[in-house]
Amino acid sequence: MRRGEATTVRVPGDKSMTHRGLLFAALAHGRSRLRGVLDGADTRATAAALRQLGRAVPGLGPGELVMDGAGLHGLQEAAGDIDCGNSGTTARLLMGALAGHPFSTTLTGDASLRSRPMRRVLRPLAAMGAHFDELAEPDRLPVRIRGGTLRGIHHDSPHASAQVKSAILLAGLTGGVSVSVAEPVPSRDHSERMLADLGVPLARTLGADGSARVQLTPVERLAPLDCVVPGDFSSAAFVIAYACLGAAAPVHVPGVGVNPTRTGMLRVLSRMGAMVYTGNERTACGEPVADLVIERAPLHATSIAAAEVPSLVDEIPVIAVLAARAEGTTVIEGAAELRVKESDRIAAVVTNLRAIGARAEELPDGMIVHGTGRPFAGRVQAFHDHRIAMAFGVLAALEHGRVHIDGADVVGVSFPGFWSMLQHLGR
Ligand code: S3P
Repeated sequence: MRRGEATTVRVPGDKSMTHRGLLFAALAHGRSRLRGVLDGADTRATAAALRQLGRAVPGLGPGELVMDGAGLHGLQEAAGDIDCGNSGTTARLLMGALAGHPFSTTLTGDASLRSRPMRRVLRPLAAMGAHFDELAEPDRLPVRIRGGTLRGIHHDSPHASAQVKSAILLAGLTGGVSVSVAEPVPSRDHSERMLADLGVPLARTLGADGSARVQLTPVERLAPLDCVVPGDFSSAAFVIAYACLGAAAPVHVPGVGVNPTRTGMLRVLSRMGAMVYTGNERTACGEPVADLVIERAPLHATSIAAAEVPSLVDEIPVIAVLAARAEGTTVIEGAAELRVKESDRIAAVVTNLRAIGARAEELPDGMIVHGTGRPFAGRVQAFHDHRIAMAFGVLAALEHGRVHIDGADVVGVSFPGFWSMLQHLGR
């Protein structure tokens, strides 16, 4: 392909918004319409859970999905345990929705999800009046949650976590009580934007110290959604990385969600010297959407600190890969949350970078990556983590067969079709 002729790549629908779209539609009063939802293993887990809780959720796909809501208190007791698979968002947001329902539900997940902390959500829900039993290890799934009559809460979250915040907002909605959540740095705000778009009264404030607070006033009924889910910025991140490092021609990614609480990577890339352009900006579902164009450019190192982390938390593995190809040494700090994602992403990234000949060191809350222009070669592990597989998939595609990934099929969690998309980009 000649330089200048752009390659167009579409990315799947936003994962966070698909989970929320399905949950809010299940709790709405009336018929919702969603277009562009992600059909991935994680969002299928949410759809399947809602079916177990009595909702008729059609199969997921990019076409129009139509579903009837049960109302804010209308979920029904599930016959068996609900398996959330690999999906932290499914488990944690469901806990919030179930807190306002007067029956017991057992939630579990795969080995990765069963190793992730749950008390960050369970504790505030218990303070509101929900009950939970940890059925195996403390702070871990499987958990039996029994909802009921709730009282309002103000929760000061030590974590900037949209899952914690959204669970409490959902408990406020299903319990019919007012709730507020403060966090040290704003986490992704899809729940707030989508709920505000449905007319739920939400007051949001930003503190002078960078903290954020949201307060929800309960409503009698949630209006149904009519929503087009934009492309997932976190999936686009891998396309962007490939395009920055190696694409022969500009890459065009249309219709990507560019909510500023998600796009910290764009700010990091601009510091690194990347050429990423956003244009054709519009809104959908109360969210900013844009088309992206990326051109290859030499990159240099940068540093990332705690205040920036929530806006790029899922992009750190691929940013580390970019840093390995940048000139200079990149330092990432304030990202201890990465240790409790689908894998310990600090250990996973550093182990893999070393396995292919890059220089990198772990920090307790981040990593140091030394950039190099030398070719990489070797075998890396996906660590059962979709974002680790895709981050190193970008490098593997650029190394023409010298880098191999074990467990590469895990990408279906958030980006089915990732490997064929990369092949198309490389042609
Ligand atoms: C998500 C929130 C983030 C993110 C995850 C999706 C969400 O997790 O890492 O991939 O949809 O709310 P935390 O809430 O644990 O930060």
